[in-house]
Amino acid sequence: MTYEAAVVWELFERWGHEEVTGDPGETQSRWTVPHVNHMVLDKWMPTEGAVLDAGCGCGVEVVRLARRGLTVTALDISDSLLEHTRRRVEMAGVLDRVTFVRADLTERLPLPAGHYDLCLALTGVVSHTGVRHREALANLVACCKRGGFVLVGVDSYYGKVR
Ligand SMILES: C[S@@+](CC[C@H](N)C(=O)[O-])C[C@H]1O[C@@H](n2cnc3c(N)ncnc32)[C@H](O)[C@@H]1O
Repeated sequence: MTYEAAVVWELFERWGHEEVTGDPGETQSRWTVPHVNHMVLDKWMPTEGAVLDAGCGCGVEVVRLARRGLTVTALDISDSLLEHTRRRVEMAGVLDRVTFVRADLTERLPLPAGHYDLCLALTGVVSHTGVRHREALANLVACCKRGGFVLVGVDSYYGKVR
């Protein structure tokens, strides 16, 4: 299986847009399974500190994390999904706690090493990196503080597994 960043970018640029209706930290999304993400986060979310949400998509979890008072870096390969996340974060009134980074998770990231208490790549983000999943995982680990957590979801034959 090859990995072509341009193909992934095109996919999410084309299909990623959704209107934000209702609570910006709860809205259902076709790309994600928020209720599962919420369950995972509720268990592992730190009470303070910095979180990296890699492949943040529509930004539902970014809002939830920022609302908890955490400092969040929202990273995605898709410009339009980052813009979508920015709008959602603005609607939720937590813009001051979020930084937006457009980057490919498989490449060298413009982020500080060992900085984050929690590094997320929820739902299919790492699965989309195909043969470059090791690079993606290594980047998540490199960004994580010693003693911090990396939480990764994968798409599998059995559906969404975490
Ligand atoms: C299914 S969505 C998941 C969104 C979010 N993590 C969630 O669970 O709600 C996958 C996201 O990963 C992003 N993505 C895919 N490959 C990526 C890569 N190599 N680097 C950064 N983001 C990537 C896509 O643009 C998309 O926003």
